[in-house]
Amino acid sequence: MVYLNGNFIPKEKAYISVMDRGFLFGDGVYEVFPVYDKKIIGFEAHLSRLQDGLDAINIKNPHSNDDWKSLIKKIISFNIKNANQAIYLQISRGCDQNRKHTYDELDPTIYIQSSLIGPREKNSLFKGKSAITREDIRWLKSNTKATSLLANTLYAQEAKENNAEEAILLRDGIVTEASSSNVFIVKDNCIYTHPKGRNILPGITRDITISLAKKLDIKVNETTFSKEQLMEADEVWITSSTREILPITSVDNNIINSGLSGPIWSLIYDQYQLLKTA
Ligand code: PDD
Repeated sequence: MVYLNGNFIPKEKAYISVMDRGFLFGDGVYEVFPVYDKKIIGFEAHLSRLQDGLDAINIKNPHSNDDWKSLIKKIISFNIKNANQAIYLQISRGCDQNRKHTYDELDPTIYIQSSLIGPREKNSLFKGKSAITREDIRWLKSNTKATSLLANTLYAQEAKENNAEEAILLRDGIVTEASSSNVFIVKDNCIYTHPKGRNILPGITRDITISLAKKLDIKVNETTFSKEQLMEADEVWITSSTREILPITSVDNNIINSGLSGPIWSLIYDQYQLLKTA
């Protein structure tokens, strides 16, 4: 079951108009909430980023946080066969009479669905995953979680065609983030990740990872790092709501350090697992 504009209906019966600006222009924002056995990780933070996204593209939030909570909880319970769920929530600007670039105030289109988050057992991650690098040509509002994701989907497809998990993006030689995740490196027991700003999505898993590291007394630097620093790192990870904290052990076919996931990743991974049952 999915939620579309006030109704809970089977996904096969969920249709929108061709005049929807989400369809015509990618004019909307979205969120992905990770849910483990009904527990939503970072719920308030996701809702707050949703509000930031709506503000950034001038759409009025159609619901209060309490309304969102009850809609999301219903979708979780309708899809309880998925023990671990990624709740996808999209708000587009809505439908106009005709296709035009400018917009008036419209009734937004609201869509919520659940999909399965696959298990990420620790022992399946020791060897880590591979990544490719690409130049980051995206617009300078990458901090808005907009549904217009053409560049990101093309990067993700290139990664897939190169048998890689992710495409890590570089702007002027600096690692920004990846096609659908944030990027971390570890060097000499310090963690580095790109600072917040217009070049990266402020990932909720990124924030959680930073706070877990601080709790463990591991130093975190929200400073930029170069491709060279990436290649010479002791550890590389990507983070996202659906991937959690995933070790990357090869970049552009070069092995990172020993080619295995590292000890700091292992500590943070364990802490993250505790959030699922806290
Ligand atoms: N993507 N950067 C980009 C470009 C992303 O698309 C995402 C998440 C992240 C990580 O954000 P978070 O930790 O809040 O999930 C960083 C989601 C999962 C997606 O598009 O499906």
